[in-house]
Amino acid sequence: MHYICAVMAINTIHKILLLGAGGREHAFALQLSKSKRCAQLFIAPGNAGTAHCGENVPINPLDFQAIRSFVLQHQITMVVVGPEEPLVLGIWDFFQADPELSKVLLIGPSQAGAVLEGSKAWAKRFMGRYQIPTAAYREFSTDQLQQGLDYLSKHALPIVLKADGLAAGKGVVICQSINEAQQEMKEMLGGKFGDASAKVVVEAFLSGIEFSVFVLTDGKNYKILPEAKDYKRIGEGDKGPNTGGMGAVSPVPFADALMWQKVEDRIIVPTIKGLRKEKIPYIGFVFFGLIVVDGEPYVIEYNCRMGDPETEVVLPRLKNDFVQLLHACATGKLKRVVIKQDKKTATTVMLVSKGYPGAYEKGKIIEGLDTTKGSIILHAGTKMSEGSVLTNGGRVIAVTSFGKDIPSALRKSYSNARKIKFEGRYFRRDIGKDLL
Ligand code: AMP
Ligand code: GLY
Repeated sequence: MHYICAVMAINTIHKILLLGAGGREHAFALQLSKSKRCAQLFIAPGNAGTAHCGENVPINPLDFQAIRSFVLQHQITMVVVGPEEPLVLGIWDFFQADPELSKVLLIGPSQAGAVLEGSKAWAKRFMGRYQIPTAAYREFSTDQLQQGLDYLSKHALPIVLKADGLAAGKGVVICQSINEAQQEMKEMLGGKFGDASAKVVVEAFLSGIEFSVFVLTDGKNYKILPEAKDYKRIGEGDKGPNTGGMGAVSPVPFADALMWQKVEDRIIVPTIKGLRKEKIPYIGFVFFGLIVVDGEPYVIEYNCRMGDPETEVVLPRLKNDFVQLLHACATGKLKRVVIKQDKKTATTVMLVSKGYPGAYEKGKIIEGLDTTKGSIILHAGTKMSEGSVLTNGGRVIAVTSFGKDIPSALRKSYSNARKIKFEGRYFRRDIGKDLL
């Protein structure tokens, strides 16, 4: 009897609503739509790429009431949350509190769990409680400006300043002088990022190589997904301002067995145990942004969702049935799951709009999408208009390819990246080069 119930549960067919509109969501939509357990897929609001995986619906992921109506009207049984904002605003709690929605499986942590990303100061204190390795820090709020400036005056260079809350990826500033750091602190505490910088974290600068680790957890058990390396800066050779991410590679060659042991023992296990100990409901992805200093991993940041563009290389390498995996997660049965990874290397190269990450224009016609061969073309910022695919964001298209190694995957990504054209298109030509 038990056995039959378990089989039935794991085979449940879902009507799914996916929230988000980027390359991460297109990668999610592809995996969800491929699953035999997916009866129907809606994406809110989606993009020109996700429209090929399911039906795009014009709903803002932050409009919980509109989501509620849609879920009830279409008898949605699973909601997958892509971006962090709905999670930080408490979409999980909203579903839990509503008798009609509480049975819907929602993939994403509670508001209390999303604080891992929503408040950098909270995340630092959490790491402190469980001795999770991270850079030394102090936090200062608006009424502590003078103490903050005094603290900075004796700080070693460079100094890392972080707005506490969500700041659209712009909240981290690395200052090369004390003057610059003091100026930045005045601006942040003065409201540069609104409420998000009413508190500032000052952190010691760590010098090393970064990579991203992803875990899916049901709050008790966890499964490690393929790792990735992201290329954050706009310019080649890691120069210029930070972006959302210009490309990614998975697997990461330096993440060997010894490194994984350290990451799991010192970082993943204490994080999942800590959340559980503090009774924080967490059903979803934990993204650990790590830096390796002299062979030792440290946490740079937590995110409460998958990475973008990391997802564009992580999910294609995942061989499990994705809906089945998410179902097991949402029903507390992750323990039974065995993660199956494709051994091949995946690379992705992001095509971006001229001006990104600063101001950029939208609405440029994208050509050549149907001329690519042997890559997965993932839309990040696109929309359909009168039969054409137009640019609709800073990051426009991610070109993901498989290869037996990094160079062979990159060759395909670059060959297809060059075939996709729009006015002002830019991409980095050195993704993955540092790993060769
Ligand atoms: P975040 O916006 O939190 O992803 O941070 C952006 C980037 O800032 C990270 O990916 C790192 O490259 C850099 N960064 C953040 N904290 C530190 C630190 N303590 N030491 C060195 N670099 C850092
Ligand atoms: N690629 C980094 C992020 O998703 O935050």
